[in-house]
Amino acid sequence: MPVIPPDIAAVADYEPHARQRLDAAIWASITGGSADEHTVAENRAAFARIRLNNRVLADMSGAHTRLELCGQALEHPILLAPTAWHRLLHPEGEAATVMGASAMRAAMVVSAMASLPLEAIAKRATSPLWFQLYVQPDRAFTHALVQRAEAAGYGAIVVTIDAPVTLRNQEQRAGFRLPLGIEAVNLRGAQPPPPPKAAAHESEVFNGLLAGAATWEDIAILRARTRLPLLLKGIMTPADALKGIEIGADALIVSNHGGRVLDTQPASIDALPRIAEAVAGRVPLLLDGGIRRGTDVLKALALGARAVLVGRPVLHGLAVGGATGVAHVLKLLRTELEIAMAQTGCATLDAIGPEVIWRP
Ligand code: FNR
Repeated sequence: MPVIPPDIAAVADYEPHARQRLDAAIWASITGGSADEHTVAENRAAFARIRLNNRVLADMSGAHTRLELCGQALEHPILLAPTAWHRLLHPEGEAATVMGASAMRAAMVVSAMASLPLEAIAKRATSPLWFQLYVQPDRAFTHALVQRAEAAGYGAIVVTIDAPVTLRNQEQRAGFRLPLGIEAVNLRGAQPPPPPKAAAHESEVFNGLLAGAATWEDIAILRARTRLPLLLKGIMTPADALKGIEIGADALIVSNHGGRVLDTQPASIDALPRIAEAVAGRVPLLLDGGIRRGTDVLKALALGARAVLVGRPVLHGLAVGGATGVAHVLKLLRTELEIAMAQTGCATLDAIGPEVIWRP
């Protein structure tokens, strides 16, 4: 059988093939969101509601998708979002993902919860790699992890700030457990958080799960300790965006974590315009959540993002075709973006502005 099933024409076509190949509980864990999953659905529905204006007969000679982001030259604005435990999806795990990303010259954000050592992933990369960090209750360990990423050649630190606690009902119902032998290997050796002190009648959340959770103070400390560009992932309001800039973030990722944290948040694409207005170009904005088409990328750029990140589709590609599947997912999105640029008369990313969005 060919690595890429012949009926795959678009990124969403990977989904049924991935589902077929994966254990039901693993499928639930990657597909699912928080609680009733309204935000997961909304991330897609919001893109579908946005209508585009076409522009005809534009001069597209010399057209390209290149950009500069956080000091790095990128060939296109489609990045791999950080996602945990790629060995759940393919035996080669992140080693396959990074090869697929490199083949398509896509920047990849490696998750703190990666299932391979961050150094081993970096060795295989020929395109930019950034490291995603969850601030660990063990702060000394957290800072040592940042140093490891710096030493291994990662080009930026992405601190995910929106997920100190989560509520994943689909995953719970499916009985998801990490299979033996798969773990977040880069977090080995961290001091575990102190055991919850809560008595039965006390709050498990406030006295237990949130012990050691990060605050803005931690971001300020991280900012001072790394020479790398620092991005904050999980910004959904103008107020938090401004706070992030004040504390010295080099870029912000507008994200609701693919609907996996606070259910009934709006779609990230709906949150973007107000944040872009407040930020007023002081730092670049990136966006993730629901990107499945080249037109979605174009819409995000038109509404104020400089680049986008893609989560689940990369995992589907990985499950179906390893490195080849990942590369194909990225290729499909990039080609669709180029088609969308041609159809809206935008020869460069800078040319993609609010006028491509149709207003009633
Ligand atoms: C994630 N996401 C995530 N984010 C992060 O900062 N660190 C992580 O380890 C993970 N892990 C993770 C696992 C899985 C299975 C999913 C689906 C998502 C969130 C991810 O970076 C991104 O915000 C969303 O996936 C974007 O939405 P789409 O593209 O999946 O719709």
